[in-house]
Amino acid sequence: MITRIINRLKRVIRPNVLQDIALEADLLSQRGMVNRLLQEPHWERKIEIYNCYEYSSEQGVWLKKKSKYRVSDTACADVLLSGQELKKINYGCGGNLKEGWLNVDLFPNDAPNYKLINLLEKHPFPDNTTQFGFSEDMLEHLNQAESIFLISEIYRTLAIGGVLRLSFPGLEGVLNRHYLPASELRVRQGEFEAYAFWDHIHFYSKEELCLVARHIGFKEIEFVEYGKSKHSDLCGLDTRFTQIGLNTYVELTK
Ligand SMILES: C[S@@+](CC[C@H](N)C(=O)[O-])C[C@H]1O[C@@H](n2cnc3c(N)ncnc32)[C@H](O)[C@@H]1O
Repeated sequence: MITRIINRLKRVIRPNVLQDIALEADLLSQRGMVNRLLQEPHWERKIEIYNCYEYSSEQGVWLKKKSKYRVSDTACADVLLSGQELKKINYGCGGNLKEGWLNVDLFPNDAPNYKLINLLEKHPFPDNTTQFGFSEDMLEHLNQAESIFLISEIYRTLAIGGVLRLSFPGLEGVLNRHYLPASELRVRQGEFEAYAFWDHIHFYSKEELCLVARHIGFKEIEFVEYGKSKHSDLCGLDTRFTQIGLNTYVELTK
């Protein structure tokens, strides 16, 4: 009750919101919008700011409503790559660049088969183009909303029949390796071993991964084994054999 009264008072005495909003950026990327909203302590204000923008799927950014602002033609243009390069993408490659694949990550690297791309923004690839995607040990570094964003962007850019192979520490493996027996001590150690040492923030269980993948639109979901696949392009890609038993290996077909 008291909180409600305080919030109402805040609304009355707050400086003209519309004036504040006039100062907001004309354009925000997906992460720009998330970060902007994080700066606001009050949910009402977050929603006011959010409502001042509309999403442009053409440009992959949030544009202020009624603003004439448009990104230059080249700013968000699809990355110009040959058909061959677009066929296979290794997402969040780290230092593990794969021959014959386009490797993408956040770090600068001069390799010709590498591009610096923030995978939490609209991917600079056209719809329905990629044949194969691969991502090893990246998902667990993203929170749930971010990983749903990533998987749906990969889905958008995969060709019909294209396959995404994911390898990541799964919740089942994490509980077995780091939380057994579920004693007071192991639960405390597990928090460091599984999460804090490695900046891991979210582990998908198989069930949760299926739920998200189906929701996004993947037609087939197959849990597979380390290094193995019925698709020759996806065989032998996994590099972390010490994580057998910890990781989940899955192939998602669009
Ligand atoms: C644990 S490393 C795995 C690297 C490699 N796949 C391997 O298995 O050795 C996770 C990688 O995901 C990359 N990554 C995380 N967030 C990213 C983002 N938003 N865009 C692109 N890469 C990202 C990190 O930079 C990092 O290289």
